[in-house]
Amino acid sequence: MQDKLQQLKSKVLHELKAIKNSDALRDLEVKYLGRKGELTEILKGLKDLANEEKPKIGALANDVKKEIEEVINNAKWEIDNALSDDAAIKEKIDVTLPSGLATHGHLHPLTQVQKELEELFKSLGFFVATGPDLESEWFNFDALNIPASHPARDMQDTFFVDGNSDTNNRWLLRTQTSPVQIRSMLQYGVPLRVIVPGKCFRNEATDARHEHTFHQLEGLMVDKNISLANMKAILEAVAKKLYGESTKIRLRPKFYPFVEPGVNGEVTCFLCRGTGCRVCKQTGWLEIFGAGMVHPDVLRAGGVNPDEYSGFAFGFGLTRLVMLKYGIDDIRLLMSGDKRFLDQF
Ligand code: PHE
Repeated sequence: MQDKLQQLKSKVLHELKAIKNSDALRDLEVKYLGRKGELTEILKGLKDLANEEKPKIGALANDVKKEIEEVINNAKWEIDNALSDDAAIKEKIDVTLPSGLATHGHLHPLTQVQKELEELFKSLGFFVATGPDLESEWFNFDALNIPASHPARDMQDTFFVDGNSDTNNRWLLRTQTSPVQIRSMLQYGVPLRVIVPGKCFRNEATDARHEHTFHQLEGLMVDKNISLANMKAILEAVAKKLYGESTKIRLRPKFYPFVEPGVNGEVTCFLCRGTGCRVCKQTGWLEIFGAGMVHPDVLRAGGVNPDEYSGFAFGFGLTRLVMLKYGIDDIRLLMSGDKRFLDQF
């Protein structure tokens, strides 16, 4: 019996060498391992062996069976892979042809709206600047008239970052784009017309309306004799361009430490045109920016003499504009990186 098993094994290995396709391989498998296969027949004879021989021969028979199964499986794998190579050669693929499967990516909806606003402001004589996401406490707060003791700091939950040895000027993830007001004045001087699109971060408990990372678009214009009327004219032009000629803006007093006076800026609801609907929560107005005349202390922090120059600043909620434009009801989708969401824009 032992000899029979060994012979069978060498027969299989020998026959396998000649096999080149899966049909022949399947025949070989049936011939030896099938229900009436040669190995199966030998295994049936096990029961007639003497009791003391059974365990030894049984184990050997099992080993042989496993080995045969393994070599057949390996041969299968080789045949399958060789076949796909053949198929590729037969197909004669011209790798220089366009595949027809490639898809074009597109800009993120936030970037699309940002670009639109950048073009608009450029046509009004503004240039585009950027600032660092990792900012210092001085630029983000102190220079903007928000000293450490000021309650206004509570309005912006902040991610402080370890590492700055100056404990009076810690590093933080900027909570607003406004620090770039100061950076621009220091870097470019006056007169100045600049906009600053960019990411901001707040330590929010996130939900459909709050996110730790969001986008703003800041603006600053400083020159001689700039008044609130100039500010209104510019913001009205922007609102009309965004939402159509019949759009009005409404400015109502609001406190921001870095402007005086400060305003809360609203535009006629683009959906109901002012009559009240779901989007504007029945008010007819959409709040989309904060603005005001730059506080003299802020001009000073930027190295500008407030007796000679004045200016206005504004901050658009870029994220909010995008959500309104596309009817997105959960802010968290925007930075989720979910392609199924982004493919819709
Ligand atoms: N930085 C303010 C905020 O994040 C917005 C703002 C910018 C208000 C400029 C006035 C002027 O809430």
